[in-house]
Amino acid sequence: MNQDDKKRAAGEAAVEYVKPGSIVGVGTGSTVNYFIDALEPIKSQIKGAVSSSEASTERLKALGIEVFDANDVASLDVYVDGADEINARKHMIKGGGAALTREKIVAAIADKFICIIDDTKHVDVLGEFPLPVEVIPMARSYVARELVKLGGDPCYRQGVVTDNGNVILDVHNMKIQDPKAIEDTINGIAGVVTVGLFANRGADVVLTGTENGVQKIAD
Ligand code: A5P
Repeated sequence: MNQDDKKRAAGEAAVEYVKPGSIVGVGTGSTVNYFIDALEPIKSQIKGAVSSSEASTERLKALGIEVFDANDVASLDVYVDGADEINARKHMIKGGGAALTREKIVAAIADKFICIIDDTKHVDVLGEFPLPVEVIPMARSYVARELVKLGGDPCYRQGVVTDNGNVILDVHNMKIQDPKAIEDTINGIAGVVTVGLFANRGADVVLTGTENGVQKIAD
């Protein structure tokens, strides 16, 4: 079983959490693409989706699944999304696909965050994967200097503009021992839109695709 098979298995397993008649929160990335594909056969049983990126919106619509504006939805039962890294407390690094801000918004609206990953994403300490930070373009250099003060090594993700018209700094070489505190600190820097740490609002359920099937971790 390769990494893609494991992602597919995790994505398909998440369909079990989708309630009939509901609007489902949908994340972004290669694992979520498998989840979106797995929604297709049950699309007549759901109202539709709220999406965290233009890419996911396009895929949902292509399959005939209605996409709602987040402003028109008061609550969501579940938000299903991948992660770049996750620790044992279900804190995550996300944003490898540059969709972190919208992902954080849809996750905030949802009651439950279902994280779907393959088994390479589990870590003891977050930070081996460069931490994405979405930044207002005019603040890029200032924010980079502040991130250096925090011990990181920020790198401008060349050629990437987010769905919100901003840029991404990827912070290398940060061992994130206290994810909630670092999330708050980086979010407090002027010009930061959001940091790709999902610790204050972590995952509720983790579905991991492995050689031995999908393993579930829940509260
Ligand atoms: C998108 O911005 C990210 O947060 C993704 O959820 C994350 O990068 C996981 O992506 P894959 O499912 O492609 O590994």
